[in-house]
Amino acid sequence: MKICVFSDYTSLSAACADGIETLIKEKPDAVLGLATGASPEGAYEELIRRSRAGELSFRAVKTFNLDEYCGLPRADRNSYYSFMWEHLFGHIDIAPENARIPDGNAPDLAAECLAYDEAIKEAGGIDLQVLGIGRNGHIGFNEPADAFTKGTHVTRLTKSTIDANKRYFDDNPMPEAAITMGIGTIFSAKRIVLLATGKKKAEAIKNTVQGDISPRQCPASILQLHPDVTLLLDEEAASLLG
Ligand code: GLP
Repeated sequence: MKICVFSDYTSLSAACADGIETLIKEKPDAVLGLATGASPEGAYEELIRRSRAGELSFRAVKTFNLDEYCGLPRADRNSYYSFMWEHLFGHIDIAPENARIPDGNAPDLAAECLAYDEAIKEAGGIDLQVLGIGRNGHIGFNEPADAFTKGTHVTRLTKSTIDANKRYFDDNPMPEAAITMGIGTIFSAKRIVLLATGKKKAEAIKNTVQGDISPRQCPASILQLHPDVTLLLDEEAASLLG
């Protein structure tokens, strides 16, 4: 694992955008795996800026998002569909059909999961996967469990994740299930960049980098075995690393 620690969020975000820009310049039809959440927002802002400045084009890029809530209408402002269109897709020249997000309202969720993994394969696999991390070490919505998950699947969210995310839902109930790429899907990406900031992520980062490889203690710990993982951290997120 390569670990880069930044003194501010702007330079961390620029480093993430640099990695994506370099890849797209080398391979204009690159396949990106994308994450939602606060962690990648700055990188998306920077990509929008570069795209508006004519430095970067997503015309041939394909993207696959990690996850989506089940049963939340796409138009809901808390859906990951809304997040991605608000924070990235709506401001770059990506073809809408190339910006895939799992459909948490599909009538047959099991079929949607299989079709999602198949579409990733057909696209040639993910060249670069962007990840955030949950406080309990989850990636995508792969919560602590007895075994590492394989492909895209439906999962129940843990109390820790519901507590961390429910602030966005005001008085509305937060969905308790989600569709997510599996650990196997994520692990198949050729390159992985994980972003984490703040004290609340320090424990998860310590477990990711130095903990036992354990699906129960920290799902992200499996990344220790991946050949090309970079962690972009601020000083607080890195503070428990020995
Ligand atoms: C959610 C998402 C994850 C994300 C995590 C961290 O649970 N499913 O994909 O990485 O939250 O989010 P944030 O970056 O807002 O801390």
